[in-house]
Amino acid sequence: MYTVKEALALLGCLPRQSLGFYPTPLHRLDRLSDKLGVNLFIKRDDFSGISLFGGNKVRKLEYLLGQAKAEGCHSVITFGATQSNHAMQTAAAARRCGLEPILYLVDLVDTREARANLLLDSLYGAEIHIVPAPDGEEAAEARARQLADARQRQLEKEGRRVALIPMGGASPLGTAGFIGGWLELSDQCLQLDTTPDYVFQATGTGSTLAGMVAGKAMTGGQTQLVAVQVSPKDEGYAARITRLANEALALIGARAAATEQLFTLDADHWAPGYEQPNEQSNEAIRLLARTEGLLADPVYTGKALAGMLSWIESGRVSQGSTVVFLHTGGATALFSEGQIIGSLGSFDPQEAME
Ligand SMILES: Cc1ncc(COP(=O)(O)O)c(C=O)c1O
Repeated sequence: MYTVKEALALLGCLPRQSLGFYPTPLHRLDRLSDKLGVNLFIKRDDFSGISLFGGNKVRKLEYLLGQAKAEGCHSVITFGATQSNHAMQTAAAARRCGLEPILYLVDLVDTREARANLLLDSLYGAEIHIVPAPDGEEAAEARARQLADARQRQLEKEGRRVALIPMGGASPLGTAGFIGGWLELSDQCLQLDTTPDYVFQATGTGSTLAGMVAGKAMTGGQTQLVAVQVSPKDEGYAARITRLANEALALIGARAAATEQLFTLDADHWAPGYEQPNEQSNEAIRLLARTEGLLADPVYTGKALAGMLSWIESGRVSQGSTVVFLHTGGATALFSEGQIIGSLGSFDPQEAME
């Protein structure tokens, strides 16, 4: 096992581009704690920067773009859905370090106008390619990859070096960013003289979780990591997360092993699908807004919150436990298409007119 200081020293061997504002705040949610009967903290990675619309991708991008800069890249290509937080944050981060952002975005919702992240992508002047998905998400993702490869070859022929970043920044290098996230949280908990019984978070590509798992493999401890899925996953998902965690550990030369026993997946709150809202999640978003004045989003953090609430309300998390909710950002989704926000956007201004 490593101390936080020793683990940070290993992580320090990777090239890193400073982009965010760290440590992100960790603070107690007094009113929600009282309501739920637990000692609830929130880790504000929604506050990471670069702009007002931060999120979990910034930690990953510090390493991904750190490497791109070290290799003398000129452009950065990445992937996502049309409302991808990762794509938007990559565009912002690329601009911050003088790289040209190029985005391949799979068209999962009806995109008639540029709203939310797509609006921000265009504001950042990203080269945006929308990839239609008439034959499903997987086929469209494969096509996006082929188009990006062709664009990369073309740019390299013109003498411009290109960094390719996978969807969600889900590579061992991106994952290293959340080894840092785990170590930062551990250090904050030490300073508060508290040990979380649970950390809840959303999981999509799985690399945020993989980084947290890798960090936990390094420092040990009793904290249970619970990750709420935002989409259906096949049986190999937990193994892929574990492999990614171990690849990130190998990258920094850590002598520690991640295993599937170090985390729990909650697959009960993603329905009906990715970027499709459900009522439990909308209720959780309203609860956080109305109890604490904080925002969650319908695609990721709302579903994670719904998962956390169900663990607490069912007694799976016992009363009096110390719980941390890792807020991974995503609030721009509140300004996206009706398909994504569902009944959250049901306010009728006509009805409210006096
Ligand atoms: C707001 C938000 N939360 C959580 C996640 C999940 O992170 P990961 O893809 O690393 O599992 C994402 C990823 O897209 C996200 O945008």
